[in-house]
Amino acid sequence: MPDTRLTSMAVDRESMIPPDGGAAGSLPAWAVASPTTAVIGLQWGDEGKGKIVDWLAARHDVVVRFNGGANAGHSVVVDGQRHALHLVPCGVLHPGTDNIVGNGVVVDLAGLRGELDALEACGVDTTGRVWLSERAHVVMPWHPVEDRLYESAAARVAGAAAAVGTTGRGIGPCYADKALRTTAVRVADLYAADRPARIARITALKNATLKALAEVAATSFDPLDAAAIDAAVAADAAALAPRVTDTARRLGDAVANGRRVLYEGANACLLDVDHGTYPYATASQTTALGIGSGAGIAGGAREVIGIAKAYQTRVGAGPMPTEQVNAIGERLRERGREYGTTTGRPRRCGWLDLVLLRHTVRLTGATRVALMLLDVLAGLPSLKVAVSYSLDGRAIDAPPALAEDLARCEPVYADLEPFDGSLEPCTSVDALPAAALAYVRFVEAAVGVPVSIVSVGPDRAQTLLR
Ligand code: IMP
Repeated sequence: MPDTRLTSMAVDRESMIPPDGGAAGSLPAWAVASPTTAVIGLQWGDEGKGKIVDWLAARHDVVVRFNGGANAGHSVVVDGQRHALHLVPCGVLHPGTDNIVGNGVVVDLAGLRGELDALEACGVDTTGRVWLSERAHVVMPWHPVEDRLYESAAARVAGAAAAVGTTGRGIGPCYADKALRTTAVRVADLYAADRPARIARITALKNATLKALAEVAATSFDPLDAAAIDAAVAADAAALAPRVTDTARRLGDAVANGRRVLYEGANACLLDVDHGTYPYATASQTTALGIGSGAGIAGGAREVIGIAKAYQTRVGAGPMPTEQVNAIGERLRERGREYGTTTGRPRRCGWLDLVLLRHTVRLTGATRVALMLLDVLAGLPSLKVAVSYSLDGRAIDAPPALAEDLARCEPVYADLEPFDGSLEPCTSVDALPAAALAYVRFVEAAVGVPVSIVSVGPDRAQTLLR
């Protein structure tokens, strides 16, 4: 089944921040001095993390994925060549960088091999540069089937809102099996003598589960063949063997040796399994809180760059208090080109939600914010940001735990002065039109950390640093 949810952002290296810091001059200290940096999406994904991660990867020695799976992704264009990355950290496109797929990632083996083969075919040398944790869990062939059957069974029994609207990539069932243990397969298990017996045992259990789910979903399914699965897995395991290692130890050694490490967050904070808009969330820890367990390192990242759009977007189901189902929402969608690049599906659009942004900046420990796509707001007749909510007549300044309560929250808006004209000629944040600068400062004051990156257009000189 085609991926209906994943909406990756294409990053053209040519249109990124240049190595010298661009029009802003030399790079600010935060971009070059921190020994450990994390890049984390602060909203519901698609904030433009890829652009910032790829730029920072050139300034780090090790790039680490610590969460999620092939539900995340972006493409990076280098010298006119597009590279689609879902599991491989984007440091791979920077020679001399070590890349780690950590234990907290769930790995589709064939997908990982496909990405690596495609990179090699384009002349990117991945040998001895891409490492896979022996403790990472494997997305097995039953997981995507289970994912889709759970979604359709839930929708059939309890209505469309009962479905999460997953990417269908088996992410949730794989993490569920990690917690269940008896039905889990880790990378290290692929090389154990009892692998065929383990796969036969789990396949039998999964076929029973899938059969029952298919009945509830009123659909059919083809029972999985354990021997065929084992043969495919054996081939993948052999191909990936030279990359499999104790990545936590490798990372710990790198840190001890003073190598600079970049943590590449996948998905985004509001999709976090603990702190996001549960159950309309993904199944892993998407904030910087996940770095320790997902990469196997204490201490997290010194600099945490939180990425947010200057407005709000969301793909798929779930509450979104500031959504604008009107001409404003349509205008944001058109100007921001808010359509999934895979399917062209329109994203839901609305005003920037500072209740949620405060929540995610605090949770992820963002030390600074990158405010993307500010130019999309130029020319709007009015400009609002949500500063608090009203729920059942009560004022609240943090999202409630229940999704149905969040859906009932009425945003309380601050009206800010609209700004007009093109921001594109601006070469520094301080040169922005007064009302645009006031917008940036309003966001800073609300979240309590500096906005250190402002993007005002697609070209390299239009990503402003301070
Ligand atoms: P899952 O991660 O496939 O279980 O999907 C759960 C929810 O997270 C769905 O609403 C997905 O659309 C959303 N989601 C997961 N990863 C991303 C992402 O990288 N960008 C945007 N939405 C995502």
